Amino acid sequence: MDVVTTVLEARASLSTARAQGQTVGLVPTMGALHAAHLALIEAARRRDDFVVISIFVNPTQFGPAEDYELYPRALERDVELAEKAGVDLIFAPPPQEIYPEGFATSVSVTGLAEGLCGRSRPGHFPGVTTVVAKLLNIVQPDRAYFGEKDYQQLVVIKRLAADLNMPVEIIGLPTVRESDGLAVSTRNQYLSTEQRAVAPRLYQALQSGAGLAQQGGSGTEVEQAVREALEGEALFDVEYVEAVHPNSLAARGEAGLPMVVAAAAYLGNTRLIDNIRVEEGSGNA
Ligand code: PAF
Repeated sequence: MDVVTTVLEARASLSTARAQGQTVGLVPTMGALHAAHLALIEAARRRDDFVVISIFVNPTQFGPAEDYELYPRALERDVELAEKAGVDLIFAPPPQEIYPEGFATSVSVTGLAEGLCGRSRPGHFPGVTTVVAKLLNIVQPDRAYFGEKDYQQLVVIKRLAADLNMPVEIIGLPTVRESDGLAVSTRNQYLSTEQRAVAPRLYQALQSGAGLAQQGGSGTEVEQAVREALEGEALFDVEYVEAVHPNSLAARGEAGLPMVVAAAAYLGNTRLIDNIRVEEGSGNA
């Protein structure tokens, strides 16, 4: 496995793989690898011959009051985990390699990126789409893999790739959960013991909302039920609960499936997000 920090080195390593006719799968990450990243790597391993992961804590997707400086960095451990998982190349650039002096371009997706998390984090998605566009241009993978926990991010990135005619298949994979249902996330490690104990109620509330949607509840009723369940737990500070259409992310005020119910809530200073997709007839995913 190669570990490289420059675009030039990454391209050299990739050109050898391509010369051998290998397909390339990219798993973009911000490092501090956990079970959800490993599941993306495993999926890439199954589909692609040559698996690249990027490790880059992208400064432009963090707001001024957010945790960019504190965000966990664990390159040595990440290298070990990636090697064991069968990764072929780690691209771990320093910030100046991605944003050299004079960098002046921003890629943003309008509409889809503006609701849900985009409402309270206005610079977040432009930061994500700019760095993902760069990573897709640098690596030029056949496929790129993202988790459905960040559901809005996945929809926005699919739009980005389609709108810019990028020859890449964007693949979304199911959220990986702890045994009590909490979605695996880097930020879970910020939770105190007391907060960690109540954190699974976020997913439980979404599951009961999904049940209501399946029984014909309207989006508005689902949102209200999930919000009430969360507000019944004193530690949660709810940012939003929204029932949306899975592709357009438009509000689903009326009854109707499919539907994604997405929520963001704080436990102390830690912001958790999660979602559940409710399909017609077949239950929720
Ligand atoms: O989901 C993440 O870890 C990040 O938003 C991503 C896609 C790696 C871009 O920095």
